[in-house]
Amino acid sequence: MESESSLIKKYNIPGPRYTSYPTVPYWESENLSFETWNETISKNLTHFKTNEISLYIHLPYCESLCTFCGCHKRITKNHSLEKPYIQALMNEWDEYNSSFPFKIKELHLGGGTPTFFNPDNISILLEHILKNNKAENIDFSFEAHPNSTLDKHLSTLYQLGFKRLSFGVQDYDPIVQKAIHRFQTFDQVQKVHQNAKEIGYTSISHDLVFGLPKQTLMAIEKTVKNTLLLMPDRVSLYSYAHVPWLKGNGQRGFEDNDIPNDEEKRALYELAKKMFLNAGYIEIGMDHFALEHDSLAIAFKNKSLHRNFMGYTTQNTNMLIGLGASSISDSWFAFSQNEKEVEKYVQMSENKQFDKIKGHLLNEQDLIIRRKILDLMCHFETTLPEDEELKKSIIKKLIPLQEDNLIELKEDNLKVKEKGIPFVRNVCMCFDTYLTKSNDDKPKFSKVI
Ligand SMILES: C[S@@+](CC[C@H](N)C(=O)[O-])C[C@H]1O[C@@H](n2cnc3c(N)ncnc32)[C@H](O)[C@@H]1O
Ligand code: SF4
Repeated sequence: MESESSLIKKYNIPGPRYTSYPTVPYWESENLSFETWNETISKNLTHFKTNEISLYIHLPYCESLCTFCGCHKRITKNHSLEKPYIQALMNEWDEYNSSFPFKIKELHLGGGTPTFFNPDNISILLEHILKNNKAENIDFSFEAHPNSTLDKHLSTLYQLGFKRLSFGVQDYDPIVQKAIHRFQTFDQVQKVHQNAKEIGYTSISHDLVFGLPKQTLMAIEKTVKNTLLLMPDRVSLYSYAHVPWLKGNGQRGFEDNDIPNDEEKRALYELAKKMFLNAGYIEIGMDHFALEHDSLAIAFKNKSLHRNFMGYTTQNTNMLIGLGASSISDSWFAFSQNEKEVEKYVQMSENKQFDKIKGHLLNEQDLIIRRKILDLMCHFETTLPEDEELKKSIIKKLIPLQEDNLIELKEDNLKVKEKGIPFVRNVCMCFDTYLTKSNDDKPKFSKVI
């Protein structure tokens, strides 16, 4: 049997995060026209016999660039861009709303930085979107940058129905903050966290990242200790995704050798994980922790956890509509991604030109494998497919993981063992038929750990 460090050497290879299957680099856009995309939405509505959707709204602007960031964002201090962007989002929503009878069950504002926007502008947008939406108990959430979250953001969004938010924290160590060009003190985070609690937010999450440039065990220990002083209901402990080939992400604010190596990175995660578990958190899926009372922890225990482009969610809708530049929508039978460049997106929306899409139409085999990968990412278990050829090829790829005691394979049932959880993306990769189809060697994914 292999030691922990040789397992890391063996399995820490580039691999997808599986927020979708097939993953974006393998989409076959030529097979998806605008008409076909709309047909898949109609198919979803009749197939699942519900019109409930999750709605993701991408708000891309940030005032300052964090040099570790892999998100789709646009750095600017020009707040006059807010209004045209909000109008573009409303146009896009109207286009969907005039064709489909959607009922919003879950709504998430992500970014970029949603709190870059003036609370009044966010209010205009949401009142427009929600005016014909009579659904009750919508699960609203937003991403908040501690440095730009005003009391007015917290109160306005609370009145609109938001009870959940996540603060981007990353790391409290000043040396790490300098390396990633992201400056915020514990006092700043504590202040907005406590304000949100006092206003009545019932689920507050903090985003932390392990494996950042210049991050040491001492730095992460201090970061987790500070986090535990506030006991957020949820914590996302993201693995730093080093993707310097992404256009415009500015990840050259530090040297490559400032980044912890594979084993050091693993040790950072193990230390943080141990501290969260000792403090009463439950580990959920990949990268997440939650206190027992939180709905994510309850959904994980009940096996009702779901995963989509927004990450883990308790709302098991089968359709996700993404509004805004770079947003991805998922009709279960197809994926479609909006124009990534913010200016082009705004221009296209002004011209009501929504017919140019990039995406993927899922075939029968994609649909089967997507379900298996979703099971693995949410519950760490699944069954093997019925198709004998496909099953054989998957088992062949799973054997090394079984020999390394990372999984348990009994007849057609597959379970990821405790020791295998850090390697769940490697397990999913055994089901992914596209990885071997690649016809170029351009880098596509960050490493799995
Ligand atoms: C859109 S940002 C959150 C909102 C706001 N922009 C902020 O920074 O506070 C989403 C989160 O993605 C995570 N993230 C960004 N780039 C990442 C990377 N390269 N690797 C891992 N996590 C990353 C960070 O934890 C960040 O808080
Ligand atoms: S981490 Fe947040 S604030 Fe920083 S650049 Fe990325 S999206 Fe913007």
